[in-house]
Amino acid sequence: MNNGVFNKRTILLAGLIMFFVGSAYAEKQQVLPAPNGIEIPIGYKNWRLIGITHRTDNKSLRVILGNSAAIKAVHSGKTNPWPNGVILAKLVWKDRQLDTWPAATVPGDFNHAEFMFKDSKKYPETGGWGYARWKGLDLIPYGKDASFVQECAYCHKAASKTDNAFTIPALLP
Ligand code: HEC
Repeated sequence: MNNGVFNKRTILLAGLIMFFVGSAYAEKQQVLPAPNGIEIPIGYKNWRLIGITHRTDNKSLRVILGNSAAIKAVHSGKTNPWPNGVILAKLVWKDRQLDTWPAATVPGDFNHAEFMFKDSKKYPETGGWGYARWKGLDLIPYGKDASFVQECAYCHKAASKTDNAFTIPALLP
């Protein structure tokens, strides 16, 4: 009798474990890694806001989100340099005017998601940051081969005074 209950519970537990492992695996498998081997961080859509930008040159809206290490760095004012372990995410949408209020610019088509991983030991050649980008809603890895990071790091040198990151955390009350 006791054994029977134990067995049922074991089977249920094993089933649950398989379900959770399976769904974590599925989430990981859906998006291919970037050509430099960097994987898209699981759960980045739940990260917290650091900044917002609007580019008038290429008409797009962006939000910059950070993992918990980034949020901790922002709260303690330690963002120059950003500590190792910080990941900054940038999500980009094309500008769209709101039908009901055309003066309002809102997110239109999704352009890409891109990330900077701070690790001064692992990425010394690219200013201490690992770079990766995924295009469109299907999150297709960007770059023909691992050398695409040169393009990212080169342009980000314009922000060398702020640890190669452009984002200045938005003020919050
Ligand atoms: C031609 C210049 C240029 C190139 C190339 C470039 N970036 Fe950026 N990046 C910027 C600018 C400017 C910002 C800040 C304004 C904004 O949000 O667009 C930025 C911001 C970011 C941010 C938010 C953190 C920060 O630095 O403010 C991430 C993450 C990022 N870029 C990743 C990448 C990745 C990955 C690549 C290469 C695949 C890349 N960038 C290539 C100019 C560039």
